[in-house]
Amino acid sequence: MNNINVIKNYGNKMDKIITVEAKPNIAFVKYWGKRDLKLNLPKNSSISMTLSNATLDGEPFKTVTSLVFSDKLNEDEFYLNGKKIDTSNKDEAKGFWIIDYIRNIAEDKRHVMLVSNNSFPTSNGLASSASGLAAMAYATVKALDLDISDKELSTIARMGSGSASRSIYGGIVLWHKGEKEDGSDSYSEPIKISPYWNDLVDLICITNSTKKKVSSTAGMQTTVQTSEFYRMRPDYAEKNIKEIMKALEENNFNSFANIIMKDSNNMHATMMDSKPPIIYINDISKDIINSIEELNKREGENIAAYTLDAGPNPHIIVKKENIKKVEDAIKDIEGIEKILKVQISETGCRLLGDEESLIKEDGLKLIPK
Ligand code: PMV
Repeated sequence: MNNINVIKNYGNKMDKIITVEAKPNIAFVKYWGKRDLKLNLPKNSSISMTLSNATLDGEPFKTVTSLVFSDKLNEDEFYLNGKKIDTSNKDEAKGFWIIDYIRNIAEDKRHVMLVSNNSFPTSNGLASSASGLAAMAYATVKALDLDISDKELSTIARMGSGSASRSIYGGIVLWHKGEKEDGSDSYSEPIKISPYWNDLVDLICITNSTKKKVSSTAGMQTTVQTSEFYRMRPDYAEKNIKEIMKALEENNFNSFANIIMKDSNNMHATMMDSKPPIIYINDISKDIINSIEELNKREGENIAAYTLDAGPNPHIIVKKENIKKVEDAIKDIEGIEKILKVQISETGCRLLGDEESLIKEDGLKLIPK
């Protein structure tokens, strides 16, 4: 009970303010395309690493979410980064419906207050839906005292946002695409890795911090529906999963990096082949891609890998000892606003103490802090 703030016992039910932390993840082999829109079932499996809750420069890099179910509330209330969100707005309150899903399982009718803050130095385009929805699923399950496994939790987080299923865990995480229509076999699990991979770092190059124009959900749909090139993507990604698992097992960074780069390029090529074309990368991203290709060529092997999600900010995956070489290789590129250096995280979602709560009780009222 240490981390749980018990407010009051209404009948048999306790109102517990739960506070959790979740971190974004960066995919090495990407998820792009759904076989079921409602359940977020993917066309292919994907693999990622969960990022640390702070950058190497000490800036926070995490989602903190507090949540309480209470009879004191007359409606569901959702506050994101200090702004009240209309819970019926599917864009702004992305995935909020998973709370109803869990509430039904728990047969609980109380309204919820959810307060969530992303403490990324830049709040847009940095996989905030992965950490946000993982935190939402985790906190809800904890607040309603449901005894469910991490595997099941990852399927619930997945329904909120596909990539969120991977943020339940720390380390390197595999999200199985699954075959079943109900999605019960489309879950994530952590992969056992040797200490060789413990010093992986993601150098996130911010080239544009404004909100992306095409959401990942809309972009995926356009690609799946219109790109002929996309037809080969699911099999290609599955092949990349097998190869990257082998590279991880053999501690082979050269091959690991090669797969990361080609999978990202392949995903962006399917986007480009869509009608209308979806182009997330910008000229600065292209300069960074070229510089990393040149660096690897000079080194005679891949010492760094670039990868881009649905946005223009390249992530460069590198071992800690090679950060300086990458920084030197990209230092003359104009337009990089900032580089966030974030290590791999051992932990996934976790409970925080009451002192970190974003909700306070004021008499009979609950208020966001
Ligand atoms: O979970 P979503 O809907 O935000 O989709 C994530 C898609 C990519 O970031 C482009 C790839 C991935 O696997 O994370």
